[in-house]
Amino acid sequence: MIDRLWSKRGKASPQEAELPSGENVPQHVAIIMDGNGRWAQNRGLPRIAGHHTGMKAVKKVTMAADRAGVKYLTLYAFSTENWKRPKTEVDFLMRLPQEFLALELEELIENNVQVRMMGYREHLPSYTIEALEEAIEKTRQNTGLVLNFALNYGSRAEMADAVRAIAREAAEGKLDPERIDESLFESRLLSSDLPDPDLLIRTSGELRLSNFMLWQLAYSELYFTDVYWPSFTEEQFQEAIIEYQRRGRRFGGLS
Ligand code: IPE
Ligand code: IPE
Ligand code: MG
Repeated sequence: MIDRLWSKRGKASPQEAELPSGENVPQHVAIIMDGNGRWAQNRGLPRIAGHHTGMKAVKKVTMAADRAGVKYLTLYAFSTENWKRPKTEVDFLMRLPQEFLALELEELIENNVQVRMMGYREHLPSYTIEALEEAIEKTRQNTGLVLNFALNYGSRAEMADAVRAIAREAAEGKLDPERIDESLFESRLLSSDLPDPDLLIRTSGELRLSNFMLWQLAYSELYFTDVYWPSFTEEQFQEAIIEYQRRGRRFGGLS
C-alpha cells in the first residue's frame, strides 16, 4: 500500500500531484500549527471556530505522515505562553484533546499509532490530562507512527528545568560536572525519548520558532508556508516532504 502510494516520483498525469519518494523520508516531522485565529477571522467567525477546524487538519496530517513513512510527528498544540490568551479561548483549547480523542482514538489504535505528550502537566485541567492519559495508555504497545502532542510546552522552561536537575545532582555529589555533555543534557529534556526533528513546518506565514524545541531544532530543515493551519492539506504536507527531500543536509560538514 505504502509502496503503491509513495514509490512514484514526478507527475504521471496532469491531474496527479507529485508524491514524495519513499527514500529519504524525514524520520521526525515537527509542526507549529499556526493561523487558526486568522483563518476564522477571515471568514467572519470567532477564533475558536479556527481551533475547531484545525482539529480536522490534525487528523488529515497524521494520516498523511503515517502513509509517508514518517516515524515521529510532533504537533505544537499549546505553548507555555498561550496562557496569556483570554480565558474563554484557553478553555476551548483545553477541551480539544478530549474532543479529538473521542472522535479519533479508535482509528488511531487501528492504525497502530502511538500517542504521546510532551509538556508540563501542571495547570492543565484534569479532563485534558485524563483524555491524553487514556490515549497514551491504550496506544502504548503500538509500534507505528508516534503522534506526540506538545501541550503546555515551552523550550526555555524545558532547558532551565534540565539545568536545574543537573545542577542539583552535581551539588548532591551524584554527578561529576565533567560528565555533563550534550547527550547528558538531552537526556534531561522532555524530548529525551525522541530523535531530533528532521523537518520543521510552520504554517500561517510567521517566520519564528515561538519557543518551540530550540535545542532540538539546531540542524532541522525549516519549511514555512503562508497557509493557515485549518486549510493545511495532505497535499501541502507532501509538498513539504518533497521540498525536504531536495535539501542537502551537511551538519557542518561537506556534502
Ligand atoms: C495556532 O493558531 C493555535 C494555537 C496557538 C493554540 P493561533 O490561535 O495562534 O492563530 P493566529 O496565529 O492567531 O491566527
Ligand atoms: C505558537 O503559535 C504556538 C502554537 C502553535 C501552539 P503562537 O501563535 O502562540 O505564536 P506567536 O505568539 O505568534 O509567536
Ligand atoms: Mg498564532
